[in-house]
Amino acid sequence: MDLQHALMITVQIAREAGELLRQGYEEEKRIERKSSAVDWVTQYDTAVEALIIKRLQTAFPDHHIIAEESGHNGNPGAYTWYIDPLDGTNNFAHGFPVFCVSLALYAAGQPLLGVIYDPLRDECFTAVRGGGAFLQRGERQTRLQVSQTTALVDALLATGFPYDRHTAEVVENLAEVGAFLQRVQGIRRAGAAALDLAYVAAGRLDGYWEYKLHSWDVAAGVLLVQEAGGQVTLLDGTPFAIAPQLSLTVSNGRLHPLMRDVLQTLAN
Ligand code: IPD
Ligand code: CA
Ligand code: CA
Repeated sequence: MDLQHALMITVQIAREAGELLRQGYEEEKRIERKSSAVDWVTQYDTAVEALIIKRLQTAFPDHHIIAEESGHNGNPGAYTWYIDPLDGTNNFAHGFPVFCVSLALYAAGQPLLGVIYDPLRDECFTAVRGGGAFLQRGERQTRLQVSQTTALVDALLATGFPYDRHTAEVVENLAEVGAFLQRVQGIRRAGAAALDLAYVAAGRLDGYWEYKLHSWDVAAGVLLVQEAGGQVTLLDGTPFAIAPQLSLTVSNGRLHPLMRDVLQTLAN
């Protein structure tokens, strides 16, 4: 597999999908509920996903696809694509300008390439395994590197909250937010997990943690962080492995033991 060629095709698809989202952002959205009252889907999630699947199946007919809105496509084989056509649906639906397209290719459970495209800022984050992580903005391409921050008191972290938070007996992450709030410089909840990961890779955030993510939320962003010199583990510190549902700790590497200590103290 020529990964650079595959990356070029993936970037084209992500940009085409992003352009549809950019146009849709200005239009009226039809909202339906999925897993809970706060888990929304719009006509753009499904339309953009259908376009991405069509394009990927044309370019890579024998690859397996795992997509948020339509499930599995094709037979599980050597290569699997993870598609989040619109990460940040709630932001998109409310008119809050933070959302993106996230596409990743994996083989034998390992990330090979990842693309996250933010159409409003025209920022395209890319990574190929072993080849570094980059940000394309207009004609400019810059290499991504995680931040150098070594102390929690200087750190800007991001997090998020699961969609079952109105109904779950125990709502995850409330104690964790409280514990970090008393230790870090700031916490953001911007509402698009893929961008949270891309921003850790870009050094805009120093770290990120979240419970109950889906594979398509993080598949591309994990590779971006790794290729930018950062660290990704499961929340308990064990090695990252792609799975349908995941809880993650993500950092610039230097902060990883400090973040893990805070999270583990609460887990005990
Ligand atoms: C959601 C966003 C959000 C995160 C949720 C995700 P969606 O994805 O990434 O930031 O907190 O866990 O499900 O539903 O907008 O694609
Ligand atoms: Ca998502
Ligand atoms: Ca989505």
